[in-house]
Amino acid sequence: MIVELKDIIWKRDSRTILNHINWTIQKGENWALVGLNGSGKTSLLKIIAGTMWPSKGEVWVLNQRFGNTDLRKLRRSIGWVSNALHEQIHGEEPVLDIVISGKFASFGIYEKVEKEDVEYATTILKQLKIDHFKDCPFFQLSQGEKQKVLIARALMAKPGLLILDEPCNGLDVLARENLLQTIQHMGENPEGPSIVYVTHHIEEIVPTISKVILLKKGQVLAQGNRDDILTSQQLSECFSTRVDVHWNKERPWITVLE
Ligand SMILES: Nc1ncnc2c1ncn2[C@@H]1O[C@H](COP(=O)(O)OP(=O)(O)OP(=O)(O)O)[C@@H](O)[C@H]1O
Ligand SMILES: [Mg+2]
Repeated sequence: MIVELKDIIWKRDSRTILNHINWTIQKGENWALVGLNGSGKTSLLKIIAGTMWPSKGEVWVLNQRFGNTDLRKLRRSIGWVSNALHEQIHGEEPVLDIVISGKFASFGIYEKVEKEDVEYATTILKQLKIDHFKDCPFFQLSQGEKQKVLIARALMAKPGLLILDEPCNGLDVLARENLLQTIQHMGENPEGPSIVYVTHHIEEIVPTISKVILLKKGQVLAQGNRDDILTSQQLSECFSTRVDVHWNKERPWITVLE
């Protein structure tokens, strides 16, 4: 079991932001998390990543229950790539060092780097097809290349779970398709982490992301296999507007009808 949330409630002041959330991610599953702005996606992910505590309910991650475990160690098994990360990276640092720093969960390297670390970082860069940038400073890269470096950095810690929070934001059509292809390959790798992919654009849900959970106003509207969940009816409900879903090359696309 990668994640198990049992009846999670999260309240802030008198407001219930997450309400009775139950969600299980099994090993080998990749999930998309979809919901309007403010529906509670980031809050839910923070609870999974152990940076926020629920008001009620049980959180199990990688078979360990929060509250009974060394949270700092467990956090390292969870990779999280979001746009907020970009600001924390030192722009002058070469790509290879940025990737290696993922092992230590630090920005910059302050610990001894082993030969195996360099080899492993290089392998990941090759897998993501960005090894030719290994000596480049981060600031020189395009947005899409930067995103891949941050994914490589997250993979360096050999996470069991990888959270990708809107990774295609700001990418042009070509860079987006390129990154999605990388995510598809990563998802197909049986030794890779389970992926949770957060997006507002359902066409980014590539075939390897075979499970979907829809959040609406802090509650689970539906969850399960993507073919059953990504229907016109359920997405209209989720987005509070009438939409039509059509499938092309195993990817769902949406038209807003009103
Ligand atoms: N620390 C906090 N204190 C009070 N309210 C909060 C806090 N964090 C989030 N919220 C509120 O909880 C709701 C859910 O926020 P959250 O960031 O989880 O939404 P989201 O689904 O990630 O939205 P987006 O798509 O815009 O990223 C919002 O109304 C937000 O204002
Ligand atoms: Mg968010």
